[in-house]
Amino acid sequence: MALLPILVYPDPKLHTVAKPVAQVDERIRTLLDDMFETMYEANGIGLAATQVDVHERLVVINPEIVWASEERVRGDEGCLSVPGIYDGVERAAQVHVRALDEQGNSRVIEADGLLAVCLQHEMDHLAGQVFVEYLSPLKQGRIKTKLVKAQREAEREQKSRQSA
Ligand code: NI
Repeated sequence: MALLPILVYPDPKLHTVAKPVAQVDERIRTLLDDMFETMYEANGIGLAATQVDVHERLVVINPEIVWASEERVRGDEGCLSVPGIYDGVERAAQVHVRALDEQGNSRVIEADGLLAVCLQHEMDHLAGQVFVEYLSPLKQGRIKTKLVKAQREAEREQKSRQSA
């Protein structure tokens, strides 16, 4: 198992459209293990392959947290690729999702509540869409500026630590 680096908005790679998974094999199962580990480490409830720079239609979701959180469903969303930002997004209340499980078996997931929101959010990632793109251009601009600045500061801090 390995922790994978998560792309941070506005990284243009987040806008890559993912391809279907050709075959559920060992490579995919290893990738899923790594995505689960990365999601848990980051305290996320969902993670799309797009966010770890793999452009295949794969998502992992933490079902325990999804069900525990059902009572607290609200419009605000966050994203591991948009650290520290939460804002309101309108989504379909229920979705039915067809997917292959880790054994390659086809199944349909009928979801409502936070799981439905989470599935839609993760599948947006696979289409190259980040949730901030539902917000006003003004808000998107502010978020971009804030995150670019934070990344520059983090890089500067790292450099000064290396030279110290
Ligand atoms: Ni996300």
